[in-house]
Amino acid sequence: MPLSKAAALWPHCSRKSSLLAHPAPSPRRFLPQGPLTGRIRVPGDKSISHRSIMLGALAVGETRVTGLLEGEDVLATAAAMRAMGATVEKQGDEWRVLGVGVGGLLQPEQALDMGNSGTSTRLLMGLVASHGISATFIGDASLSKRPMGRVIEPLSLMGASFEASPGGTLPLMVRGAHPAVPIEYRLPVASAQVKSAVMLAGLNTPGITTVIEPVPTRDHSERMLRGFGAEVEVEEVNGERVIRVRGEADLRPQTIEVPGDPSSAAFFVVAALLVEGSDLVIENVGLNPTRAGLFEVLRQMGGSIEELDRREVGGEPVADLRVRHSALAGIDVDPAIAPSMIDEFPVLFVAAALAQGTTRTSGLDELRVKESDRLAAVAAALALAGARVEETADGLTIHGTGGDPLPGTTESGSPVTTHLDHRIAMSMAVAGLASKTGVEVDDTGPIATSFPNFMALLDGASA
Ligand code: S3P
Repeated sequence: MPLSKAAALWPHCSRKSSLLAHPAPSPRRFLPQGPLTGRIRVPGDKSISHRSIMLGALAVGETRVTGLLEGEDVLATAAAMRAMGATVEKQGDEWRVLGVGVGGLLQPEQALDMGNSGTSTRLLMGLVASHGISATFIGDASLSKRPMGRVIEPLSLMGASFEASPGGTLPLMVRGAHPAVPIEYRLPVASAQVKSAVMLAGLNTPGITTVIEPVPTRDHSERMLRGFGAEVEVEEVNGERVIRVRGEADLRPQTIEVPGDPSSAAFFVVAALLVEGSDLVIENVGLNPTRAGLFEVLRQMGGSIEELDRREVGGEPVADLRVRHSALAGIDVDPAIAPSMIDEFPVLFVAAALAQGTTRTSGLDELRVKESDRLAAVAAALALAGARVEETADGLTIHGTGGDPLPGTTESGSPVTTHLDHRIAMSMAVAGLASKTGVEVDDTGPIATSFPNFMALLDGASA
């Protein structure tokens, strides 16, 4: 549908594009630096932070959260939950969420501005889908290209209706169904966002909503919903995970400590492996098995990553990671591990560019529909920095330098393009540390979506 027609259909949508839309680009050249040493702590897990606010907003009473990631994506979730009636505020070091109860979400008066955040959009579409309200979702240029059909399909089966922009993209409007219809849905793509959207819709749906996962994805929704007192059963049947959520749930408020984000730690793990003389401890890193694939692959490549003081934080396994500079060897990455490191491929590709020999990856079509087409974006960026990369339909093949620094972007004279993608910007920053002349990144602004203090930590950790 053309946007003008969409505008006519959505009279309550006073804005058609994101207020969080990206301001003027902030370029930076990331120069080779000394070893990374000492101890650092990365911000809270993004997936758990989003869910803490959403589930807190659906509980009756006060949920308290420490370690919340205060990145733009999570703040977009907080603003949306406020617009639907919850109180979400910071008091000292703690976030306080006063929930409205399952079924109690209010109709937002304005379009919900999701900025760059696919997780906020897809999970909140699920929440709205089973409430008797409608909501319009808008986002920045990157988010407005991303496919929402994958959530529209199951949520339509539950009774919600949608008016989307061409190709099933934002801006879009959701009209929730109340009561919604419970479904049994087998995920056609391995996506925790789609799984969670259906589970969250199921919370306010009579009966049992079932999601079948042929390939397991991050299980924070299952763990956290149980923590909030929802009835969630997980069973393995013929190698598939069958997840059942009992609807019309009563959620009890919780006190949550959010562990450090392994996806953010990933940049420092790779930086310490690549920069000679590094010996860095990253404290409090979440090591949920559905998230920790990168560390396993880097160990297979010869990386020295030691887990110290393994413990539990907020119902998740956590450890301090000691990472020492290591000679890496290229490998064929098993596509089966992809869901447990889906956000970490850009930085793995950087590690592979410095390894001895060839690294081959496949089965990564999903990377083409992230904040950018990450296969194309990293292939272009690494090539500009002087790496030898071949792009295939569903992966990259990278011929490493054997530990020699990459030439850097000076020779090409142009900066690498981040395409509004935080993880491309941070991965290429790491490539800059392991280069001869530095890597110029066209825009560091998107880093604030998930890791606002990334540059300060990087500057502080390396001599
Ligand atoms: C997320 C799921 C993943 C991941 C994203 C966070 C989540 O997306 O890439 O950063 O919190 O559920 P997909 O569901 O699209 O794989």
